[in-house]
Amino acid sequence: PAAKQPAAAEAQSIDALRQKASQCRRCPLWSEATQTVFGEGPDDAELMFVGEQPGDQEDLQGRPFVGPAGKIFDAVLGEAGIDRTAVYVTNAVKHFKFEPRGKRRIHSKPNAGEVEACRWWLAQELKLVEPRLVVALGATAAQSLLDAPVAITRQRGQTIMRDDGLAVFLTIHPSYILRIRDPQDAGAERARFAEDIGIVRAMM
Ligand code: URA
Repeated sequence: PAAKQPAAAEAQSIDALRQKASQCRRCPLWSEATQTVFGEGPDDAELMFVGEQPGDQEDLQGRPFVGPAGKIFDAVLGEAGIDRTAVYVTNAVKHFKFEPRGKRRIHSKPNAGEVEACRWWLAQELKLVEPRLVVALGATAAQSLLDAPVAITRQRGQTIMRDDGLAVFLTIHPSYILRIRDPQDAGAERARFAEDIGIVRAMM
């Protein structure tokens, strides 16, 4: 008898997965976005960071965390002594969702259905990379990773163990810092974010 077909033909590498994701039609977000912004980093990274979704710059450049939030992310990682090229960086949702406002494109939050549709890709990334620790940057990432609503302001700094043994560290999204108007408050929040990333570094 013929060998049983696997239930789903899953990719064997991140590059193969990225290739497949470039054609993703699991939700309607692909139609307005420039391209799929897939995760990047070594297939065997011990540490994974998960953001919300690509922003304007990420959508244009095709890489995660390269815009204003990415600048903060890079700086704070550097201060903590984490080499970005050694970690895997991705997003809960892999297409930019926005509303046009004149010439600008304003970020709009992905809904539960979009997060759910894209969770399939995140699960594949986790399966291939098998990180020792995953950092959820903000509520959308936490919701996708834990399949439950998370109050980030109350739970930040905590590590949650999933049923499958995956450790998920919770912190804020760096774009939250960019939205704080008062420079002193923004500075304090950036310092707290850096403290969280310092804890992550100490856990590795
Ligand atoms: N915000 C995110 O959540 N991800 C990115 O890649 C950029 C900004």
